[in-house]
Amino acid sequence: MDRMDWTRPNWHCDSGPADTSADAALVYDDDVKAETDHLYERVKDVILPDEWPLHAPLIAAINRLKKERGTIILAHNYMTPEIFNCVGDLSGDSLALARMAADVEEDIIVQAGVHFMAETAKIMCPDKTVLIPDMRAGCSLAESITGEDVAAIKAKYPDYPIVTYVNTSAAVKAEADVCCTSGNAVQVVEWAAKEWGTDTVILIPDEFLARNVAANTDIRILTWKGACEVHERFTAEDVEALREGHPGVVVLTHPESPVDVVRAADYAGSTAGMAAWVKNNRPAKVVLLTECSMSDNVAVENPGVKFVRPCNLCPHMKRITLQNIYDALRYNRHEVEVDETTAARARISIQRMLDLPKPDSPAQFDKDRAPVEVELV
Ligand code: 13P
Ligand code: SF4
Repeated sequence: MDRMDWTRPNWHCDSGPADTSADAALVYDDDVKAETDHLYERVKDVILPDEWPLHAPLIAAINRLKKERGTIILAHNYMTPEIFNCVGDLSGDSLALARMAADVEEDIIVQAGVHFMAETAKIMCPDKTVLIPDMRAGCSLAESITGEDVAAIKAKYPDYPIVTYVNTSAAVKAEADVCCTSGNAVQVVEWAAKEWGTDTVILIPDEFLARNVAANTDIRILTWKGACEVHERFTAEDVEALREGHPGVVVLTHPESPVDVVRAADYAGSTAGMAAWVKNNRPAKVVLLTECSMSDNVAVENPGVKFVRPCNLCPHMKRITLQNIYDALRYNRHEVEVDETTAARARISIQRMLDLPKPDSPAQFDKDRAPVEVELV
């Protein structure tokens, strides 16, 4: 399998003062080896043997601390493989993480993902402690729009429901009518149109997701000019070049990518959709045009499938490391708070999404549907 150097644990960032006495104990000794050998067996195709002794002491320490502290780690599909496979307790796409957060029993949740995911967990579990290992783990989509922007849109278009992607702040969710993720965006848009008795829905803030949804529904969509900095950079020419360079490769992409990329690919869906597609179809050779860690994590589940590796790193997701997860557990940091007035309103938007029927399989975007006009609000 092709490999890239970014799987090395070099994404350390400032996570506050280190406890040197505790860190001194974090060595790869026989006890740690015995505790973690079964985990290395799982990730041995995506983590080199000489890298493992760097990860294993932190993995063992995190797994011990989790038990002692009644903590659960929710891990997004874009976490690096040593986090996703070796310390994450529950994992999935944004929709699955929102559902899981609502049902967690443990008192402390560590979000191995970005800030909006931690906020969603806090909104759904206001009585629990929600920690994010690095407060700077943001998202270009979440940063593209504010609660005030949404209030202004609502004042301008009072008759149209506002569907907001979960990749937004609590303040944005509070001003919107209902949330969606890439795993259910068409379903939510069609529900909102019916519920509000309108043929027009405002879907914010991802322009590309909105354009891909618009091509997959008869509802008229208005949107906002936000974009995911990972997915907006893929082009239809990239897909063409991949097909030329790797004959027979199957191309999977995410609906946060431009419409012509989705149309050039073989499949488009959420991260969970892409993972399920590989598992169900077991292609000989596949490329996941998305964040880089996806290929490693899907590869772990699908030995024998060859992964072609052009990908884009999400700098926000990559702020989360084993070291700062360990620090989060040891020092109870960094606690995510959402004021109760905002949380109560945002909870309505999230709950409306979670109350919709759960589809049997992740939604697929029909790549053969022609693009349609989408206006910006
Ligand atoms: P999903 O996991 O919901 O597909 O979202 C991808 C993403 O970009 C999350 O930040
Ligand atoms: Fe945001 Fe894109 Fe990173 Fe997801 S991958 S957190 S949408 S910037």
